[in-house]
Formats: sequence, C-alpha cells, structure tokens
Amino acid sequence: MPVEEQVMSKTAKLDLGDKTIDLPIIVGSENEHAIDISKLRTETGYITLDNGFGNTGACKSAVTYIDGEKGILRYRGYPIETLAKNSTFLEVSWLLIFGELPRAGQVDELAEEIRKHSLLHQDMRHHFEGFPATAHPMAVLSAMINASSCYHPELLEVKKIEESSLSMVAMLMAKVSTIAAFSYKKSIGEPQRYPDPSLDYCNNFLHCMFSKPYGRYTASPEVVRALDLFLMLHADHEQNCSTSTARVVGSSEANLFASMSAAVCALWGPLHGGANQRCIEMLEKIHRDGMDVKQVVERVKNREFKLMGFGHRVYKSSDPRATILKEACDDLLKALGVNDPLLPIAQELEEVARNDDYFLSRNLYPNVDFYSGIILRTIGIPVEMFTVMFSIGRMPGWIAHWKEQHENPNGRIARPRQVYTGATERDYVALESRP
Ligand code: SDX
Repeated sequence: MPVEEQVMSKTAKLDLGDKTIDLPIIVGSENEHAIDISKLRTETGYITLDNGFGNTGACKSAVTYIDGEKGILRYRGYPIETLAKNSTFLEVSWLLIFGELPRAGQVDELAEEIRKHSLLHQDMRHHFEGFPATAHPMAVLSAMINASSCYHPELLEVKKIEESSLSMVAMLMAKVSTIAAFSYKKSIGEPQRYPDPSLDYCNNFLHCMFSKPYGRYTASPEVVRALDLFLMLHADHEQNCSTSTARVVGSSEANLFASMSAAVCALWGPLHGGANQRCIEMLEKIHRDGMDVKQVVERVKNREFKLMGFGHRVYKSSDPRATILKEACDDLLKALGVNDPLLPIAQELEEVARNDDYFLSRNLYPNVDFYSGIILRTIGIPVEMFTVMFSIGRMPGWIAHWKEQHENPNGRIARPRQVYTGATERDYVALESRP
C-alpha cells in the first residue's frame, strides 16, 4: 500500500528581500522532493507562475510512478515491463483502481460486471442516429459518456468508489468499448453488432467492431494479445493532461461520467492522445509521397512541423511503452505475415532522430504514440479511432485518479491563481463618446 510521504524537518528558505519565510519540504516514497507552497500567498502575498505546470505538483498520488530520466514507469509499484509480460488489461485495471493485484476470482468478478453493463440503454441508439456518419469518434465518445449518466441518475451522487461500487467502474469500461464500436458501425453504415456476453473484453470489442451482418468476426490470438497489451500500456500515466483534467473536473464534485467525458476531450488534442492519429497520418504521407526520411527530419529541424510520436514532457530518455510497443508491433506483423511499409519508415525515422543532435539535445525520443498506430492499423482500426482506443485504455487510470482524489480528506476544488497583465482600472466610455 502507499507509503506516506515524509515531511522533512528541512525547510526551503525563501528570501524576498524584505521578508524571509521557511517552506516545508515534502519527500515522496521515491525520494522526490517538493516544496509545499500552500501557505505562500497568505504569508507573503506572492504566488508562483509555472507555464504548463512543468515544475508544479498538483497532488500527491500513489497510483503511478514515472522516472523520466531513467525511463521508468510503474503502476502501483509494478514495472510496466513486468506487467506487459505477465498481466492483462483487466488485471491491471483492478490494480490501478483498487491498489493491489486482484486475488483469484476478482478479475472474473470485474469481467462479469463488464459483461452485464456492455449493452447501452436502447434509447441511446437514437443518439447515434443524430450524429453524421462523418462525426469524429472522439466527439461521439465524450458526448455518449455524458449521455450515459442520464440513464443512471443514481450514479450522479456517487462521491466515492469502493470495491462494492465495482459496477460503476465496470459500467464505464464496458460502455466506452460499446460506444466506440457503435460509432464505428455508424460511420461505415453497417448495423450495430451487440456485445456477446460469452466473449472477453478484447474479443467482444473486436466482435462489435468487425462482425458483419452476414458473418461473425473472430480475432486471431495474436491480434487479441496485441490489443490487450495496447490497452494495458495506455492504462495510466500519472498527472498527464487528460488525467489532470479528470481530477480538476472531479474536484468540483462533478460526477464520474462528467469527469471522464472531459478527460476524453483533453486527450483528443494532437499534442496529447491525438498524436497517434497524427503520427500515422505523417507516416502515410511520407510513404505516399515517397519522401526521403532524412529530408523529413531536416524539415522538422527547420520547425516546419513536429515529429508526431516523438518527445515527452516527462521522459527525457526512452518511453518504456514505446520500447515494448515497437517489439509488439514487429511480432504482430510477423505473426500475421503482414508487411506494412510504414514500419520501416518509422524505424528509419527513429534511427535518424536518435543520432541527430537536434533531437538528442532536446531529449526527443519515440513516445507511446510512435509505434502504437501501426499496431492499431494492423488490427484494422481506422485511423480516426486511434485516440478512441487510447481513451478505452486510459479509462481505468482516469477512474483510479478520480477515486484517489475523492478519497483525499484534504481534497479541495482546483482553482489556480493568475498573474494579471490586462488593463488597470479605467473609466467607462459611453457608446456615443467612443471614437
Ligand atoms: C502523450 O504527459 C503524458 O504522460 C502524456 C502521455 C500519456 O500517456 O498520457 O504520455 C501521452 O501525450 C504522449 C505525447 C504525444 N504527443 C506527441 O507525440 C506530439 C509531438 N510531441 C510534442 O508536441 C512535445 O514533445 C510534447 C507535447 C509531447 C511535450 O511538449 P513540451 O514538454 O511542452 O516540450 P516543448 O514543446 O517545450 O519542446 C521542447 C523543445 C522545443 O524546441 P526549442 O523551442 O527548445 O528549440 O523540443 C522541441 C520543441 O520545439 N520539440 C519537438 C518535438 N517535441 C518537442 N521538435 C520536433 N518534434 C517534436 N515532436
């Protein structure tokens, strides 16, 4: 279980010239040091300013640990490499949300609850009729997650997630999968395929996505394993933009569905979860136009565009997920006998960038989005749905953080300050007197 942080006897001395104050230093269980500035404004009138919060801790958390310099990622203390080899998406979901690896039978309990909740309320079919076939599936997903709460008003008042409220966790994980598949069927003009309770999470999703009115789709074990690994590797990543959004929205005591819907919107951005779609589109353009990889890299260095799937706010060495996904991508293509021309392009891009000072000096390495798109493309997921797949994977992480925040007895509504730079006080000018 989480090790409580130590408040060190050491303090940080802030000398403001006319005043000096001592600020407590907090040390996390991985020896991360933080200066607690909770009293800064009341004691000095000063606030801090930190563009993009690169130096600011928003909370204490025991869910996920990242060491960006060493390329370490652990879910509740378990290295991602170990979980990738030995675990499943549902098992990792339980670990993230409830803090311990599930005991025998608990994963089956979660799987059973998910099966029970995988159907949408029949009335929700009409929502899909209202969306154009060209609607971006992330818009549909965020809208339908919020819409789901209209059919479960009892969940709007839930403030805490205990193991007894497993059904709410399962409901969100189940619904996002069904909503995603239904939105895909709508986009291709095919009748929606209802979930089959005899199938596990990944097989059910692939069935709802790819079974035809005239024939049942059965995924190969390699495809199912690749999808399960993809979802597990996306399950959490501490205080990233979308998880922070889930926590900020949840801090106002907005319900879980509203918080998850907001997180989906934040993930949609091309600098965040939307990068997997942009990365594949970039690789497809390089392939389609027969572009020389070295020229592409020169254009990136000339700041014509960013190399999507590269760089990270926290990882200043390789993203361990990218390493695992690169190997999984290779294995899947070999197992299926698929020769995807984008893979050698991606590998060459990585090779060139890893030996170029522009990237090395900025600590730019492949991130989770660089190879994941090739896996999704091989499975047959349309590129517009790549970020939806990221959302399905990240759902347990968002829930885990929402739960942790609601369990914090000292939790407060998120309300940052600002440094005002606008006009100072001036007199109102009546309309007729304005030049
Ligand atoms: C995810 O936070 C998380 O944990 C996110 C995530 C998760 O699991 O939740 O890991 C998922 O969002 C991964 C990131 C996916 N996004 C992309 O692949 C988009 C491309 N990457 C960049 O936009 C960028 O690297 C970010 C957004 C990921 C990080 O941006 P930062 O930390 O704000 O860094 P920055 O923009 O200040 O860049 C620092 C320097 C700049 O050059 P200088 O102005 O110093 O000369 O590096 C350059 C940037 O121009 N740079 C890039 C680049 N990323 C940064 N140059 C070219 N290509 C890139 N991809």
